[in-house]
Amino acid sequence: MELKKGLEDIAIKETEITYIDGNLGRLYYRGYSIFDLAEFSNFEETAYLIWFGKLPNSRELKDLKEKLAEERNLPEYVVQFIKNVRKDANPMDVLRTAISMLGIEDESNKEELWEKAVKITSKIPTIISFFVRTRKNLDIIEPDSSLSHAENFLYMLKGEKPSNLESKVMDVSLLLHMDHEMNASTFACLVVASTLSDIYSSVVAGVSALKGPLHGGANSEALKQFMEIGNKDNVEEYIMKKLESGHRIMGFGHRIYKTYDPRAKILKEYAKMITKEKGLYNLYEVAEKVDEIGSRILGKKGIYPNVDFYAGLVFYSLGFEPDLFPTVFASSRIVGWTAHIMEYLKDNKLIRPKAIYKGEIGRKYIGIQERE
Ligand SMILES: CC(C)(COP(=O)(O)OP(=O)(O)OC[C@H]1O[C@@H](n2cnc3c(N)ncnc32)[C@H](O)[C@@H]1OP(=O)(O)O)[C@@H](O)C(=O)NCCC(=O)NCCS
Repeated sequence: MELKKGLEDIAIKETEITYIDGNLGRLYYRGYSIFDLAEFSNFEETAYLIWFGKLPNSRELKDLKEKLAEERNLPEYVVQFIKNVRKDANPMDVLRTAISMLGIEDESNKEELWEKAVKITSKIPTIISFFVRTRKNLDIIEPDSSLSHAENFLYMLKGEKPSNLESKVMDVSLLLHMDHEMNASTFACLVVASTLSDIYSSVVAGVSALKGPLHGGANSEALKQFMEIGNKDNVEEYIMKKLESGHRIMGFGHRIYKTYDPRAKILKEYAKMITKEKGLYNLYEVAEKVDEIGSRILGKKGIYPNVDFYAGLVFYSLGFEPDLFPTVFASSRIVGWTAHIMEYLKDNKLIRPKAIYKGEIGRKYIGIQERE
């Protein structure tokens, strides 16, 4: 039996959801280019596309928007949990536990999977925002059903309606993180779903996998790097020192993309605009210089900026503290997770790989008295 560490290059299902061309730097949701979706679509419409396989007509879009807006409130016991949990808790732990609690309440609910997917998607920003406000000793802000998914998220976080630019940047950022084929967290969701466990348990597995720094944490590392560099004149020396000492440039490199990640290309433009509006343009200039010099040096090996390179800068400019970045990622990836769960269950096969045994066989059992 061949051992494939990390399941690299192993396909576990066929999919019609997302296609990545890692050599050309292209990403398609349901056949639509990410460049077109980022320019012309929005969170709600793209979520519909990913869940149902086609762009909605105006009635279908209106229905989904209303359902997403209606479901934003949390049951009181989840609100109490968020208010009582320790303020220094890891936000991903709070999110994971809150989704798990929602699953207990919903256990006997016979709704269809897509309805549960909408419900969880709708509630995640509320969980995150309530926790953020509570840990800062601020009053929680109830969701506003007149606002879009992205606008309402920022509104509940900060207590004021976002500017047009903030709304657009938030919306595009969520859209760009919505799905990415068979990544670690999506796979984790499928492992649980394939046992015919429930959708909440499957999503909890996804959140747990996304919490790890190798998956959901690189965006804050990239931002930390820009802050550490401080000024664009320091970039060249910083990169040289890092590479000479065998360290990596955070936000560079990808298992699939061997060229510039299309999501980074899109986020770069929005990072430029939002950092200008928020007085963080010096950080953008540092990032741009790291991008330029890093690509020149590492591009020869097919290593370029990935989505995380500018995402941290964008999330930070929108008002999210770095420990919240993976939760923002989850608030978007929930759409991809649940779409893949629904697609997989149409032709379910229990996921049960093998391990190659390397231990001993036939050892003689010795009573505890004789083991000294
Ligand atoms: C994402 C990542 C894990 C993908 O790695 P991978 O496909 O497994 O590739 P490897 O780790 O085997 O690296 C291949 C080569 O590229 C180099 N490399 C990869 N990413 C690099 C980076 N960010 N900076 C400098 N060198 C890098 C490695 O040192 C290695 O060089 P070598 O062949 O001379 O030893 C890797 O690029 C990385 O650690 N990036 C930084 C963290 C990050 O941004 N993660 C978010 C991913 S979305």
